[in-house]
Amino acid sequence: MLRIFIGVELPGRLKSELFEVSKQLKATIEGARWVARDNIHLTLKFLGSITEEQLAEIETALRSKAAAFKQFGVECGALGVFPNQKRARVLWVGADRGERELVDLSMLVEDALEPLGFARDDKPFKPHITLARLNPPKPVEHALKTVPEAPHQGQSIPVRGITIYQSHLKPTGVEYTSRAFIQLQE
Ligand code: 2AM
Repeated sequence: MLRIFIGVELPGRLKSELFEVSKQLKATIEGARWVARDNIHLTLKFLGSITEEQLAEIETALRSKAAAFKQFGVECGALGVFPNQKRARVLWVGADRGERELVDLSMLVEDALEPLGFARDDKPFKPHITLARLNPPKPVEHALKTVPEAPHQGQSIPVRGITIYQSHLKPTGVEYTSRAFIQLQE
């Protein structure tokens, strides 16, 4: 079985800048699990364990829908947390521009995969780039005040397609590989 999720790949420069933000925050937020630089991405839908046959079907379904969805730009936004700053579980960077399109893109993925037996997510989709996971949850109000305006904020990045990722759980940590890149309409 393959552990699969659908997401948006980010440019290397942005990943490096976001990782710098993580490094600054590490000093004030202890005990968090920080996403490795190369693993920084934006998830559209997590599928879990599937077969190679399902993977092929998913790719075909996504290709037929994505061909009619226009490429767009995203501007990175401020830091945010789930569920709130007093008990933070996930620390992330949001989108100032392009959020609507990312929500529409996640709908495209849900629409393509539902007929293949993948249930729609019941929670509304909030586009985010995860930087850290905190378990147990922690208060982060103070830590977030110490971060100066970061260079990633306001930076525009093109979304030219979506990626089907395979996640490999290794003793050294998780690794993601791209199984397919599905281009959006130019
Ligand atoms: P997150 O960034 O919001 O934490 C790969 O594991 C990606 O799939 C992560 O970025 C994670 O999103 C997302 N994901 C969603 N549900 C998941 C689950 N039940 N288990 C693991 N990852 C999940």
